[in-house]
Amino acid sequence: MAAAVTLTPSASEGAAPSDDVLIELKGVSKEYASGTNLVRAMRDVSMTIKRGEFVAIVGTSGSGKSTMMNILGCLDRPTRGTYTLAGIPSGERINDARALIRNRLIGFIFQGFNLLPRTTALENVELPLQYRGIGARTRRKRALAALESVALGDRVHHTPNQLSGGQQQRVAIARALVTDPPLLLADEPTGNLDTRTSLEVLALLQRLNRDRGITIVLVTHEQDIASCASRVITMRDGRIVTDIVQDKPLDAAAELAALPPPNDHVAAHADAEIDPVEAAKQRIGGKVPFSVYVMMFVGSLIGLAVAAMYNAFVLGQSIAWITWLGMALGEAWFASRRGRKKLGRPLTTDQKARVAIWYTVGVTVALGAILALLTVAGAGGFLYAAAAPLSHLTSRAPLAVGVFVAVLAALSLQRYLFLSLLSPRR
Ligand SMILES: Nc1ncnc2c1ncn2[C@@H]1O[C@H](COP(=O)(O)OP(=O)(O)OP(=O)(O)O)[C@@H](O)[C@H]1O
Ligand SMILES: [Mg+2]
Repeated sequence: MAAAVTLTPSASEGAAPSDDVLIELKGVSKEYASGTNLVRAMRDVSMTIKRGEFVAIVGTSGSGKSTMMNILGCLDRPTRGTYTLAGIPSGERINDARALIRNRLIGFIFQGFNLLPRTTALENVELPLQYRGIGARTRRKRALAALESVALGDRVHHTPNQLSGGQQQRVAIARALVTDPPLLLADEPTGNLDTRTSLEVLALLQRLNRDRGITIVLVTHEQDIASCASRVITMRDGRIVTDIVQDKPLDAAAELAALPPPNDHVAAHADAEIDPVEAAKQRIGGKVPFSVYVMMFVGSLIGLAVAAMYNAFVLGQSIAWITWLGMALGEAWFASRRGRKKLGRPLTTDQKARVAIWYTVGVTVALGAILALLTVAGAGGFLYAAAAPLSHLTSRAPLAVGVFVAVLAALSLQRYLFLSLLSPRR
């Protein structure tokens, strides 16, 4: 990428603080005690950043870039000197006050995205609003708007592992934006991304800077990224060694358009990985192995046998609900253990519901088939005699069907409850 930049000395150098100054460092030093040594991470740094600037901080490893960002972000305090943010002297405030300033005025973007895993994009973006005690409905509305603004309106229910690196960083940007802060701080935001994705993220940051006037301070190792900033500060040994305004920063969106088209195969593959239907399937747990149903049936026979023996030898009489309980416990115990063994984790809620419903339907169909066979063989008489008390239902077909469906539903529900109760936790 050829950087077409004009270099002029920084306009803010030596300028008196005015209303449009957002950041002001005066004689800031930061020292760390490391064993018997004293590490001077920042040495007497003074500078100002105006509202609406897009500043890149560059420098070799260990030159103090992250230390400076920590101070600008009110995550750390200077050892000496003063830091004023939006007219508020922030350096010497107590921790709570600095946390408040941080939450009100600053959005953070990190190299590693720092999203909560197993939490959807939407919930991740809502988090800073939750810290502010904003109500659920407003939270959701603002988080959705922030995700729309980073072009992720169609990915709000995806968790970080269902998103590409660039998409994860855009979620992180949405999270930083959702509180409408005047300042965005980004430490190596494109460090984990390839060229194309880096440019996409940068084009987004440039748009936020241009259209919404958000001040951006960004640390980078890459010259290409720094070329997109309106000002570049270079650090060495804890000092600012050059501070340059770039009159014509590179336009990341134009650079992106000039790149050769992405590899279609790779793009299609990446899209398949995050297909929402696939994502939903993963969440509900996939197909239930057939052997779970088999073991459920085996379990019901074992439960039945144990209950029958208990009735016969301990109680000396047959009590129907004990027989039933034995069968239900046997089913649920065997099915849930078999499920965990085959899947490597407990059945999901959705899987338990499906097992309960299909097992109930399966057993009913099997019993129906046996009845039909017995009738054909002329041996069904005793069953009809047993069912005689229900004969009044045959003249009222709709009622009979209703009762039948209700019984199936009740049985399914009972099986689901027992599966939930007896399912191993992990
Ligand atoms: N908590 C700490 N305790 C002791 N020394 C530290 C601490 N944090 C940073 N330093 C030291 O301060 C100096 C500046 O570190 P800093 O992290 O700011 O560098 P950097 O410019 O961000 O480097 P990199 O590009 O590798 O991220 C380094 O020499 C580092 O070892
Ligand atoms: Mg660093």
